[in-house]
Amino acid sequence: MAPTFSRIDHVGIAVRDLDAAVDVYRRLTGAEPAHRQRVDSDGIEAVMFEVGESRIELLGSTRDDSKIAGFLVKRGNALHHVAYGVADVQQTLDQFTAMGLQVLDSCPRRGAAGRLVAFMHPSAAAGVLTELCQPDPEAAGEHR
Ligand code: CO
Repeated sequence: MAPTFSRIDHVGIAVRDLDAAVDVYRRLTGAEPAHRQRVDSDGIEAVMFEVGESRIELLGSTRDDSKIAGFLVKRGNALHHVAYGVADVQQTLDQFTAMGLQVLDSCPRRGAAGRLVAFMHPSAAAGVLTELCQPDPEAAGEHR
């Protein structure tokens, strides 16, 4: 059986105050954020810091009814998800669905920084919300 995941692509951290968290991670990593993006459909703003070949994704809420806002009310600043690199998100989703695991997306969607992404329910990964991601072929060459 071939390994499903090629690496940890990033770790997502939900934060109440995005700018304050950016300052914290700027000091911790000794670097400026590599990428910042609002995703209005999800009510989030995401900031990426590169850490070697992996990344830290800080997630802030841009409106009170977003999923991240609900998460922050329940958990406060906390680890939100772990994202694994896969060769093909759709194929991995199909494989996990066939294994009886609960997926939250039935097909990939466009994520931040030129990735195709999909989420697995926490029940599929010992209680941790899990993201699958691959470089988006259509975004290749796009500035990020
Ligand atoms: Co993510």
